[in-house]
Amino acid sequence: MTSMAIPFVQDWDVVQTLGEGAYGEVRLLVNRQTEEAVAVKVIDTSQAKECADNVKKEVCIHKILTHPSIVRFFGHRKEGQTVYLFLEYCTGGELFDRIEPDVGMPEKDAHRFFKQLIAAVEYLHNLGITHRDIKPENILLDDKDNVKLTDFGLATMFRFKGRERLLNRLCGTLPYVAPELLSQQEYKAQPADVWACGIVLSAMLAGELPWDQPTESCQEYSDWLQKKTYLPPWKKIQPMPLSLLSKLLQPCPDARIVIADIQKDRWFTQGCQRSGSNKVLRTELELKSRTNSDDRMQFSSSQPDFAPGGWEAMLLIGPTEGQVSFSQPTKPEHMLLGSQLLATPGASQSLWQRLVRRMTRFFTNVNADASLSALKDVCDGMALVFKLTCTQQVTVSTLDKRNNKLIFKVLLLEMNQRVLLDFRLSKGDGLEFKRLFVKIKQKLGDVVCTQKILLPIT
Ligand code: ADE
Repeated sequence: MTSMAIPFVQDWDVVQTLGEGAYGEVRLLVNRQTEEAVAVKVIDTSQAKECADNVKKEVCIHKILTHPSIVRFFGHRKEGQTVYLFLEYCTGGELFDRIEPDVGMPEKDAHRFFKQLIAAVEYLHNLGITHRDIKPENILLDDKDNVKLTDFGLATMFRFKGRERLLNRLCGTLPYVAPELLSQQEYKAQPADVWACGIVLSAMLAGELPWDQPTESCQEYSDWLQKKTYLPPWKKIQPMPLSLLSKLLQPCPDARIVIADIQKDRWFTQGCQRSGSNKVLRTELELKSRTNSDDRMQFSSSQPDFAPGGWEAMLLIGPTEGQVSFSQPTKPEHMLLGSQLLATPGASQSLWQRLVRRMTRFFTNVNADASLSALKDVCDGMALVFKLTCTQQVTVSTLDKRNNKLIFKVLLLEMNQRVLLDFRLSKGDGLEFKRLFVKIKQKLGDVVCTQKILLPIT
């Protein structure tokens, strides 16, 4: 980067928070002069020594990646204990937000997203890198709805100079981890990523995660091993993608389909011949598939050996309980320095193209006080723990149907004489969060403004 670029990167406004996780926050920066947008991931490394090492590794790996289906890494900057990673801003938000709870999304969309996801994973594996935390929350979408895989915080090298190593670190997110991580000391990198892609595909096609964790103690997983595809989520899925899923979610990693063969799979190559939602023709196809169940399930019924339960406790499962602390808003012009800036994105996007598309928010028809009290009444009625964190923010906590903690924040924003309620997941299963969001919205009834209002980011 030449010194020419320095004036160009000055005056970035922190426009909003895009998301939060165990690491810290991702914020949206918009350049005052050029209107370019970048995402900045703010990581507080003061918590633990491993954290600083993890971030170094994340930078090392992410900066070498250039692929159309992977979030671009523009550069990084360290200020005291805080590290800033400058990333391509994905206007389409998380893939996760395209999944309708218990329904999924149109099969043709899932097909397209899945193909792009596999292209990203193939690229990584060819470089000898494994992501290790593939899930819809880490799959973003750009303005053209192209997949952009992100968050390389758990990524690692599994092949170097042609020599492959086995991995032993238990990491990832329990519903997405492959069974061998819980049952074996060491595991192969590539089949574990392929498994996670299978779970993502299930979520896209059925709007639910098949199980909490792939252990025999988990009823849903044990049903899958017994090929009970007449149960949800499998019964919602067409025979062709279900046939691919049976190869992706093959419990034995050595028998699991490899990327080269995924790319030869019938559904992968052809996609769905039908248009519209995955509900179309379901009954007819379901009937057909029942008469041909062997085609639906191709894995052997032999059960893997499971390790004693204690192992799961060692998994890193999403955000930790402790609050992550942040430094005061940093002057963006101090963040970007020439030498650490690898590239800048094109300046062509207009502000209106960069509308933030998120589904978990709505405007109300009443003022802030009335919105807040209506929300409190609904939460009380649903036995959700409602806590006013500050005047414009509420923290709601509960347990989901699997007894896992679910915590989210509701931000109240007054905009153009209206109040926006913006729901953001803090901890727990994203699909459960969305299910609850839909319920709360329903219960708020007339308080919710049904008129469509576009949200500019400034
Ligand atoms: N959320 C997390 N990272 C993001 C990014 N790069 N773009 C948009 N939203 C994000």
